[in-house]
Amino acid sequence: MPLTGMAFGGDYNPEQWDEETWKEDDELMRQARVNLVTVGVFSWALLEPEEGRYEFGWLDAQLERLHANGVRVDLATPTASPPPWFTLAHPEAMPVTADGTRLTHGSRDTYCLAAPAYRRAAVRIAGALAERYGDHPAVAMWHIHNEYATVCHCEQSAAAFRVWLRARHGSLDALNEAWGTAFWSQRYGSWEQIMPPRATQWHLNPGHTLDFRRFWSDEALAAYREQRDAVRRHIPAAVPVTTNLMLPGYQNLDLWAFGREVDFVGIDHYMDAPGVDGDADTAFGADRARSFGGGRPWLLIEQGTNTVYLPDRVLPKDPGRILRSSLAHIARGSDGALFFQWRQSRAGAELWHSAMVPHAGPDTRIFRETAATGAAVAALEEVAGSTVTAEAAVLHDADAWWALDTNGMPSSELDYPATLKRAHRALWDAGVTTDFAHPESDLSRYRLVLAPSLYLVSDAGAASLRRYVEGGGTLLVQYFSGVVDEHHRVRTGGYPGALREVLGIRGEEHRPLAAGDAVALSDGSAGTLWSEDLRTEGAEAVTSYAAGPLSGKPAVTRYGFGAGTGWYVSTRLADAAYRALVGRVLAESGVRPEVAGLPAGVEAVRRRAADGRSWLFVINNTERQVPVSVRGRDLLAARAVPPEGLTVPAGGVAVVREE
Ligand code: GLA
Ligand code: GLA
Repeated sequence: MPLTGMAFGGDYNPEQWDEETWKEDDELMRQARVNLVTVGVFSWALLEPEEGRYEFGWLDAQLERLHANGVRVDLATPTASPPPWFTLAHPEAMPVTADGTRLTHGSRDTYCLAAPAYRRAAVRIAGALAERYGDHPAVAMWHIHNEYATVCHCEQSAAAFRVWLRARHGSLDALNEAWGTAFWSQRYGSWEQIMPPRATQWHLNPGHTLDFRRFWSDEALAAYREQRDAVRRHIPAAVPVTTNLMLPGYQNLDLWAFGREVDFVGIDHYMDAPGVDGDADTAFGADRARSFGGGRPWLLIEQGTNTVYLPDRVLPKDPGRILRSSLAHIARGSDGALFFQWRQSRAGAELWHSAMVPHAGPDTRIFRETAATGAAVAALEEVAGSTVTAEAAVLHDADAWWALDTNGMPSSELDYPATLKRAHRALWDAGVTTDFAHPESDLSRYRLVLAPSLYLVSDAGAASLRRYVEGGGTLLVQYFSGVVDEHHRVRTGGYPGALREVLGIRGEEHRPLAAGDAVALSDGSAGTLWSEDLRTEGAEAVTSYAAGPLSGKPAVTRYGFGAGTGWYVSTRLADAAYRALVGRVLAESGVRPEVAGLPAGVEAVRRRAADGRSWLFVINNTERQVPVSVRGRDLLAARAVPPEGLTVPAGGVAVVREE
């Protein structure tokens, strides 16, 4: 079940403030049109100050106050931050890093998700909260935990890992075969000999590390399910339960699996670049969120009002960005926009993280922009529940990601999330709405599928891609794909292994390029990072290598297979050449931009309702106003689009209910 209506608000931590501030919060939330706040995410130590002794009085009062003020509550279980009493009583439940360091409390997420004591305590507090607030009229949804992502290498993890391995492999012989333990004398003679992949002398075994990542994803999902079920027992069937997934450049979860278990997908998204790259990153996060939930409406649970996270600093957002990014998520299927957090903390670990009400108070640009965004979201109420349709997809597979993220690869520059993002960006630049899809899913609804560095592909994935192309789809596969099976074992006989037949090629050698080197191609462009010694087996060479040892051999190939087409690109094309290639496959497969002819940096996305209504979102990330020919009602301006057409101001957004 979804959440109803458009949500606007953020994490609210009233326990950090006094009564006078709460009064001001009530007033400011009304001004900002806040209608949903996440409460209690990190409140364990206040809710259960000693084991089994609960103090709910303060939360009772807060929920009453919010309810009286017309603000719905996203009630969180506080399990991402166990209190000091818990960690001191259960030192064995503290996480251990790969090098054997046992962590101490003093931050958050200090638990081993596989530790029975932690799991019991987490389910207990989640169940106690649900028992008390299950029927509370303020509670509109439940938020389990916060950003599942931690892993641990302790003895309890080792025990749970072994149980998982037995279920997966059945026998030690099968495990030894799958992991290739004949190499380096790693043969396991009993389950107890298998350890988590802790710090060791040289390369770890790639089958071992891949299974460890799968194990942790499954373990996190099991922990989620346990809490969800403990909560579900006490709450009305119509109240949804979810968690806030984080979609950063590393990934410890199989997000497809989480997407199947949550009532709707919730994500946290912190922009990772200023300027138009940040807008593309927003679309990348939002398109993934929608896809993990199978296209259903989802919810942006956290973003920063004034936070652009770079690796070495946090940049502010330009004026207008709070509205534009919020609506960019809504355009792609989010039924609302929430922030971390309502009021900027004056103490604690994140005192410099931006908020809806900044340290300087409400008489600020940030609060004014926040309130304007709240008004805009309210004006989009009718859009809630509608969905987004895409004709192009990029494949996204946790196994492929984890397998490529292994030490001992031929190039350290192979970067799964970066290549995924680049493929999405090429489609975004072309104005095309893009889904993400799992290789084993039914791809037949897409005209075009991009497979960037699908290094690992299962037999089922390969069969699915074959069916897709045979049935008329266009598939663009990129370098270093199809080469290992689900156990991280090479498919011998030529690259790209499982995809040779559908691509009509055979490769015999990968030839990574030195950092900074480029290889010339026959169309005047160049490739970097990677090259492959290929020959065609039915495919045509669209572009060839024009220099070096591969001179004259195919670099980009195209093959008619069944009713469809399989493309292969064996090097990392320069930006312009990559865009041109994607442009060509888009044209050939008949995928068109949502609105033709928009300048670079202007996004157009449609949401459609089951009753036939549609809303066109135009997001102008440029410094010039842009005319768009569309008829209908301009929801943010609250008037019909004038006869001369719509003009979207520089940095602005328009949402039109189309006629
Ligand atoms: C060394 C080792 C071999 C092998 C090679 C290649 O020479 O002796 O076992 O690991 O490196 O890495
Ligand atoms: C994550 C967490 C929040 C907060 C923000 C900002 O999204 O869920 O608790 O820490 O990051 O850093």
